[in-house]
Amino acid sequence: MTTQHTNLVLIGFMGSGKSSLGRLVARELGFQFIDTDALVVERAGFDIPTIFALQGEDHFREVEKSVLQSLTHLNRCVISTGGGAVLREENRELLRQIGFVVLLTASEEVLFERVSRNKKRPLLHTQNPRETVARMLAERRPIYEAAAQCVIDTSTLTRPEAMDALLARVREAFGWEPHSPRGPEEA
Ligand code: S3P
Repeated sequence: MTTQHTNLVLIGFMGSGKSSLGRLVARELGFQFIDTDALVVERAGFDIPTIFALQGEDHFREVEKSVLQSLTHLNRCVISTGGGAVLREENRELLRQIGFVVLLTASEEVLFERVSRNKKRPLLHTQNPRETVARMLAERRPIYEAAAQCVIDTSTLTRPEAMDALLARVREAFGWEPHSPRGPEEA
């Protein structure tokens, strides 16, 4: 944890609330919100299910990596990453360079309930999505935990509560005041 970080990076499994919470926190801090999945879609010119279907997961991961590489110069941003962005070691290093890495977690049941609300996640287009979530979570949990500098469990929190919890951790880590119009470097 160093004061050189002026960005927040949100990692976590699909449905952990990275984008929805990220947007709220960015607004509260007066930071720009960036969603790496949206940048991948912009670069590829297709939505995520189409990228997976036409070009495959490896291609998606290559574009995802190059998106992360393009973010290392940023300041005062909240960056929400795709659930698999931490899988490559080089990406985990990039994420630490980009900012303070916060893992959002939730129980398996809550995650499954949330991801079941939309069908835009090709990795869950399986015969038994419930089992897929359980398997992927078991595989990824240690990777998420190793990549994170701070963890927030959102299972029982409303969105405003989760935002308060996140802001409290940010304040603790950096001494940032969320209502400060300035970033941590100038604060
Ligand atoms: C993925 C998560 C998705 C998206 C892609 C792959 C993953 O992002 O990047 O479908 O490997 O977990 P969200 O976590 O925003 O759903």
